[in-house]
Amino acid sequence: MSSSISFRNVTKVTTHILQEMKLKGEKIAMLTAYDYSFARILDSTGIDVILVGDSASNVMAGHTSTLPITLNEMIYHASSVVRGVKRALVVVDLPFGTYQGNSKEALNSSIRIMKESGADAVKLEGGKEILESVDRILSAGIPVMGHLGLTPQSIHKFGTYVVRATSEEEAAKLVDDAHLLEKSGCFSVVLEKIPATLGSRVTKELKIPIIGIGAGNHVDGQVLVLHDMLGITTEFSPRFLRRYLNLSEEIRGAVNSYINDVKTIDFPNEKEQY
Ligand code: KIV
Repeated sequence: MSSSISFRNVTKVTTHILQEMKLKGEKIAMLTAYDYSFARILDSTGIDVILVGDSASNVMAGHTSTLPITLNEMIYHASSVVRGVKRALVVVDLPFGTYQGNSKEALNSSIRIMKESGADAVKLEGGKEILESVDRILSAGIPVMGHLGLTPQSIHKFGTYVVRATSEEEAAKLVDDAHLLEKSGCFSVVLEKIPATLGSRVTKELKIPIIGIGAGNHVDGQVLVLHDMLGITTEFSPRFLRRYLNLSEEIRGAVNSYINDVKTIDFPNEKEQY
Protein backbone atom coordinates (compact mmCIF):
# COMPACT_ATOMS: atom_id res chain seq x y z
CA MET A 1 0.00 0.00 0.00
CA SER A 2 1.29 3.44 -0.85
CA SER A 3 0.08 6.67 0.71
CA SER A 4 1.79 8.84 -1.92
CA ILE A 5 -0.71 8.09 -4.71
CA SER A 6 -2.88 11.12 -5.27
CA PHE A 7 -6.38 11.25 -6.64
CA ARG A 8 -6.37 15.04 -6.39
CA ASN A 9 -6.37 15.43 -10.18
CA VAL A 10 -9.69 13.61 -10.65
CA THR A 11 -12.30 16.03 -11.94
CA LYS A 12 -15.24 14.30 -10.23
CA VAL A 13 -15.07 11.96 -7.26
CA THR A 14 -17.32 8.93 -7.74
CA THR A 15 -18.04 5.88 -5.61
CA HIS A 16 -15.63 3.99 -7.90
CA ILE A 17 -12.86 6.48 -7.16
CA LEU A 18 -13.40 5.96 -3.42
CA GLN A 19 -13.10 2.20 -3.95
CA GLU A 20 -9.83 2.74 -5.86
CA MET A 21 -8.57 4.99 -3.08
CA LYS A 22 -9.11 2.18 -0.59
CA LEU A 23 -7.30 -0.28 -2.87
CA LYS A 24 -4.36 2.09 -3.33
CA GLY A 25 -4.21 3.05 0.35
CA GLU A 26 -5.06 6.73 -0.08
CA LYS A 27 -7.11 8.04 2.81
CA ILE A 28 -10.49 9.61 2.09
CA ALA A 29 -11.18 13.08 3.54
CA MET A 30 -14.83 13.90 4.18
CA LEU A 31 -16.50 16.89 5.85
CA THR A 32 -20.06 18.07 6.28
CA ALA A 33 -21.53 21.15 4.61
CA TYR A 34 -25.03 22.52 4.60
CA ASP A 35 -24.93 25.60 2.36
CA TYR A 36 -23.62 26.90 -0.96
CA SER A 37 -20.85 29.20 0.33
CA PHE A 38 -19.12 26.66 2.58
CA ALA A 39 -19.60 23.89 -0.01
CA ARG A 40 -17.84 26.04 -2.62
CA ILE A 41 -14.88 26.67 -0.31
CA LEU A 42 -14.63 22.98 0.62
CA ASP A 43 -14.83 21.85 -2.98
CA SER A 44 -12.03 24.22 -3.98
CA THR A 45 -9.70 22.48 -1.50
CA GLY A 46 -10.02 19.07 -3.13
CA ILE A 47 -11.99 17.46 -0.29
CA ASP A 48 -13.11 14.01 -1.48
CA VAL A 49 -16.61 13.75 -0.02
CA ILE A 50 -19.07 16.35 1.26
CA LEU A 51 -21.76 15.03 3.56
CA VAL A 52 -24.96 17.01 3.87
CA GLY A 53 -25.43 15.56 7.34
CA ASP A 54 -28.59 15.64 9.37
CA SER A 55 -26.26 17.27 11.92
CA ALA A 56 -27.70 20.34 10.15
CA SER A 57 -30.48 19.86 12.68
CA ASN A 58 -27.96 20.73 15.44
CA VAL A 59 -25.51 23.16 13.87
CA MET A 60 -27.82 25.00 11.45
CA ALA A 61 -31.18 24.85 13.23
CA GLY A 62 -30.12 24.71 16.89
CA HIS A 63 -32.00 21.53 17.81
CA THR A 64 -30.53 19.31 20.52
CA SER A 65 -30.69 16.20 18.32
CA THR A 66 -30.82 15.20 14.66
CA LEU A 67 -34.40 13.92 14.94
CA PRO A 68 -36.43 17.06 14.12
CA ILE A 69 -34.97 17.87 10.69
CA THR A 70 -37.39 17.16 7.83
CA LEU A 71 -36.92 15.75 4.36
CA ASN A 72 -37.79 19.11 2.80
CA GLU A 73 -35.19 20.84 4.99
CA MET A 74 -32.54 18.25 4.03
CA ILE A 75 -33.38 18.76 0.35
CA TYR A 76 -33.03 22.54 0.80
CA HIS A 77 -29.56 22.10 2.38
CA ALA A 78 -28.52 19.48 -0.18
CA SER A 79 -29.53 21.51 -3.23
CA SER A 80 -27.67 24.55 -1.82
CA VAL A 81 -24.54 22.41 -1.37
CA VAL A 82 -24.79 20.79 -4.80
CA ARG A 83 -24.86 24.24 -6.45
CA GLY A 84 -21.44 24.95 -4.90
CA VAL A 85 -19.77 21.64 -5.78
CA LYS A 86 -18.11 20.43 -8.96
CA ARG A 87 -15.64 17.79 -7.79
CA ALA A 88 -16.52 16.22 -4.46
CA LEU A 89 -18.95 13.33 -4.08
CA VAL A 90 -22.05 14.75 -2.35
CA VAL A 91 -23.79 12.37 0.08
CA VAL A 92 -27.05 13.31 1.81
CA ASP A 93 -28.44 11.91 5.05
CA LEU A 94 -31.94 10.48 4.94
CA PRO A 95 -33.54 12.17 7.96
CA PHE A 96 -35.14 10.31 10.87
CA GLY A 97 -38.57 8.89 10.06
CA THR A 98 -38.17 8.83 6.28
CA TYR A 99 -36.79 5.32 5.80
CA GLN A 100 -37.01 3.16 8.95
CA GLY A 101 -39.58 0.40 8.77
CA ASN A 102 -40.99 1.28 5.37
CA SER A 103 -38.86 0.49 2.35
CA LYS A 104 -41.26 2.18 -0.08
CA GLU A 105 -41.01 5.41 1.89
CA ALA A 106 -37.23 4.96 1.99
CA LEU A 107 -37.15 4.70 -1.79
CA ASN A 108 -39.45 7.69 -2.27
CA SER A 109 -37.39 9.80 0.16
CA SER A 110 -34.17 8.87 -1.66
CA ILE A 111 -35.66 9.58 -5.07
CA ARG A 112 -36.79 13.01 -3.86
CA ILE A 113 -33.29 13.76 -2.55
CA MET A 114 -31.61 12.67 -5.78
CA LYS A 115 -34.12 14.37 -8.09
CA GLU A 116 -34.62 17.63 -6.21
CA SER A 117 -31.06 18.25 -4.98
CA GLY A 118 -28.85 16.65 -7.63
CA ALA A 119 -26.76 14.86 -4.98
CA ASP A 120 -24.70 11.74 -5.73
CA ALA A 121 -25.72 9.35 -2.93
CA VAL A 122 -27.70 8.93 0.28
CA LYS A 123 -26.68 7.79 3.76
CA LEU A 124 -28.82 5.75 6.20
CA GLU A 125 -28.22 4.80 9.82
CA GLY A 126 -28.50 1.18 10.93
CA GLY A 127 -27.77 -2.40 9.92
CA LYS A 128 -29.98 -5.47 9.65
CA GLU A 129 -33.13 -3.53 10.64
CA ILE A 130 -32.95 -1.28 7.58
CA LEU A 131 -31.67 -3.78 4.99
CA GLU A 132 -34.98 -3.94 3.12
CA SER A 133 -34.87 -0.15 2.69
CA VAL A 134 -31.23 -0.28 1.61
CA ASP A 135 -32.00 -2.99 -0.98
CA ARG A 136 -34.93 -1.07 -2.39
CA ILE A 137 -32.97 2.19 -2.69
CA LEU A 138 -30.07 0.38 -4.36
CA SER A 139 -32.44 -1.33 -6.78
CA ALA A 140 -33.34 2.14 -8.09
CA GLY A 141 -29.68 2.77 -8.89
CA ILE A 142 -29.08 5.14 -5.96
CA PRO A 143 -25.71 4.68 -4.22
CA VAL A 144 -26.03 4.08 -0.47
CA MET A 145 -23.58 4.78 2.35
CA GLY A 146 -24.21 2.99 5.66
CA HIS A 147 -23.68 4.36 9.17
CA LEU A 148 -23.05 2.16 12.23
CA GLY A 149 -21.86 2.61 15.81
CA LEU A 150 -23.13 5.73 17.50
CA THR A 151 -26.02 6.47 15.17
CA PRO A 152 -27.39 9.81 16.43
CA GLN A 153 -30.94 9.15 15.18
CA SER A 154 -31.12 6.36 17.81
CA ILE A 155 -29.98 8.57 20.69
CA HIS A 156 -33.24 7.99 22.59
CA LYS A 157 -32.63 4.24 22.46
CA PHE A 158 -28.98 4.61 23.56
CA GLY A 159 -29.81 7.26 26.17
CA THR A 160 -26.24 8.57 26.06
CA TYR A 161 -23.51 9.65 23.62
CA VAL A 162 -20.87 7.28 25.10
CA VAL A 163 -18.64 5.07 22.93
CA ARG A 164 -20.63 2.24 21.30
CA ALA A 165 -19.81 -1.43 20.72
CA THR A 166 -17.53 -1.84 23.74
CA SER A 167 -19.32 -5.07 24.68
CA GLU A 168 -18.56 -8.24 22.73
CA GLU A 169 -22.21 -8.63 21.80
CA GLU A 170 -22.60 -5.13 20.38
CA ALA A 171 -19.25 -5.37 18.58
CA ALA A 172 -20.28 -8.68 16.99
CA LYS A 173 -23.57 -7.17 15.80
CA LEU A 174 -21.73 -4.18 14.34
CA VAL A 175 -19.36 -6.46 12.41
CA ASP A 176 -22.32 -8.53 11.12
CA ASP A 177 -24.20 -5.38 10.13
CA ALA A 178 -21.17 -4.02 8.28
CA HIS A 179 -20.91 -7.27 6.29
CA LEU A 180 -24.64 -7.19 5.52
CA LEU A 181 -24.42 -3.60 4.26
CA GLU A 182 -21.46 -4.50 2.05
CA LYS A 183 -23.28 -7.58 0.72
CA SER A 184 -26.35 -5.46 -0.08
CA GLY A 185 -24.21 -3.22 -2.25
CA CYS A 186 -23.48 -0.17 -0.08
CA PHE A 187 -20.46 1.67 -1.47
CA SER A 188 -19.11 2.72 1.94
CA VAL A 189 -19.89 2.68 5.66
CA VAL A 190 -19.38 5.37 8.31
CA LEU A 191 -18.37 4.09 11.77
CA GLU A 192 -19.02 6.55 14.58
CA LYS A 193 -17.54 6.55 18.08
CA ILE A 194 -16.42 2.94 18.50
CA PRO A 195 -13.14 1.42 19.77
CA ALA A 196 -10.25 1.91 17.33
CA THR A 197 -9.53 -1.84 17.31
CA LEU A 198 -13.06 -2.52 16.08
CA GLY A 199 -12.75 0.20 13.40
CA SER A 200 -9.55 -1.47 12.25
CA ARG A 201 -11.13 -4.93 12.18
CA VAL A 202 -14.12 -3.82 10.08
CA THR A 203 -11.81 -1.95 7.70
CA LYS A 204 -9.70 -5.07 7.16
CA GLU A 205 -12.69 -7.39 6.74
CA LEU A 206 -14.67 -5.23 4.32
CA LYS A 207 -13.69 -4.41 0.75
CA ILE A 208 -15.65 -1.16 0.63
CA PRO A 209 -14.21 2.06 2.15
CA ILE A 210 -14.82 2.60 5.86
CA ILE A 211 -14.99 6.22 7.00
CA GLY A 212 -14.47 6.87 10.69
CA ILE A 213 -15.54 9.55 13.12
CA GLY A 214 -14.08 8.55 16.44
CA ALA A 215 -13.19 5.10 15.07
CA GLY A 216 -9.39 5.40 15.16
CA ASN A 217 -6.90 5.85 12.34
CA HIS A 218 -6.88 2.36 10.84
CA VAL A 219 -9.94 3.15 8.75
CA ASP A 220 -10.01 4.24 5.10
CA GLY A 221 -10.94 7.85 5.77
CA GLN A 222 -12.20 10.37 8.29
CA VAL A 223 -15.24 12.62 8.58
CA LEU A 224 -15.87 15.57 10.90
CA VAL A 225 -18.70 18.04 11.27
CA LEU A 226 -17.46 21.25 9.62
CA HIS A 227 -18.74 23.62 12.29
CA ASP A 228 -17.01 21.55 15.00
CA MET A 229 -13.61 21.35 13.29
CA LEU A 230 -13.68 25.07 12.44
CA GLY A 231 -14.53 25.99 16.03
CA ILE A 232 -17.83 27.63 15.12
CA THR A 233 -19.48 25.34 17.65
CA THR A 234 -17.63 25.37 20.94
CA GLU A 235 -19.78 23.49 23.42
CA PHE A 236 -19.24 20.06 21.78
CA SER A 237 -15.81 18.61 22.60
CA PRO A 238 -15.59 14.83 22.20
CA ARG A 239 -12.12 13.26 22.28
CA PHE A 240 -12.23 12.49 18.53
CA LEU A 241 -12.70 16.12 17.55
CA ARG A 242 -9.65 18.06 16.40
CA ARG A 243 -10.34 21.79 16.11
CA TYR A 244 -8.41 23.40 13.25
CA LEU A 245 -9.64 26.94 13.89
CA ASN A 246 -11.30 28.94 16.61
CA LEU A 247 -13.64 30.63 14.19
CA SER A 248 -16.24 31.69 16.73
CA GLU A 249 -13.54 33.83 18.42
CA GLU A 250 -12.38 35.22 15.04
CA ILE A 251 -15.95 36.08 14.06
CA ARG A 252 -16.61 37.74 17.42
CA GLY A 253 -13.41 39.78 16.99
CA ALA A 254 -14.40 40.89 13.47
CA VAL A 255 -17.94 41.80 14.51
CA ASN A 256 -16.68 43.75 17.53
CA SER A 257 -14.33 45.71 15.26
CA TYR A 258 -17.23 46.45 12.92
CA ILE A 259 -19.46 47.61 15.79
CA ASN A 260 -16.67 49.86 17.02
CA ASP A 261 -16.05 51.28 13.52
CA VAL A 262 -19.75 52.04 13.06
CA LYS A 263 -20.14 53.67 16.49
CA THR A 264 -17.03 55.81 16.05
CA ILE A 265 -18.06 56.79 12.49
CA ASP A 266 -14.80 55.28 11.21
CA PHE A 267 -16.83 53.15 8.77
CA PRO A 268 -17.46 53.96 5.98
CA ASN A 269 -14.44 56.12 5.20
CA GLU A 270 -13.97 58.42 2.16
CA LYS A 271 -12.99 55.53 -0.14
CA GLU A 272 -15.92 53.39 0.94
CA GLN A 273 -18.63 55.78 -0.23
CA TYR A 274 -19.94 57.25 -3.52
O1 KIV B 1 -24.92 14.09 10.26
C1 KIV B 1 -23.68 14.01 10.29
O2 KIV B 1 -22.97 15.02 10.34
C2 KIV B 1 -23.08 12.68 10.28
C3 KIV B 1 -21.61 12.59 10.54
C4 KIV B 1 -21.34 12.79 11.97
C5 KIV B 1 -21.04 11.31 10.05
O3 KIV B 1 -23.75 11.72 10.09
